[in-house]
Amino acid sequence: MNKNKTSNASKSDVRYLIRIYDRTETFQAPENRNLLVSMEQTRLAMIGVGCRGGGCGKCRIRVLKGGYNSKRMSRAWISEEEEAQGMVLACRIFARSDMLIVPYPPKLTPGYQMLSHD
Ligand code: FES
Repeated sequence: MNKNKTSNASKSDVRYLIRIYDRTETFQAPENRNLLVSMEQTRLAMIGVGCRGGGCGKCRIRVLKGGYNSKRMSRAWISEEEEAQGMVLACRIFARSDMLIVPYPPKLTPGYQMLSHD
């Protein structure tokens, strides 16, 4: 029996490119690892790190572009309105495509527009 390991790529082999708005640094995020841990494993420090479990709100980011799955996020840190605008906790989301994010997003200035999908 011929076993071809390369044809059995697991989900953990899928990685997405995460870009930071207005920065040159990037990191890769495997599908099965949250964004915050993926950033830490690249030895970057662009997103605030705290509890790593959704309890402190330090890892707030805004997703400008890209898809993700998320675990439940406390309304203490992400309101419904903020979530609808792409605000999430990096320790609670999992990339499902290449993404563009803003750590600790500033108030959006008038005239600012969300980036469109390619
Ligand atoms: S690190 Fe505490 S909520 Fe994400």
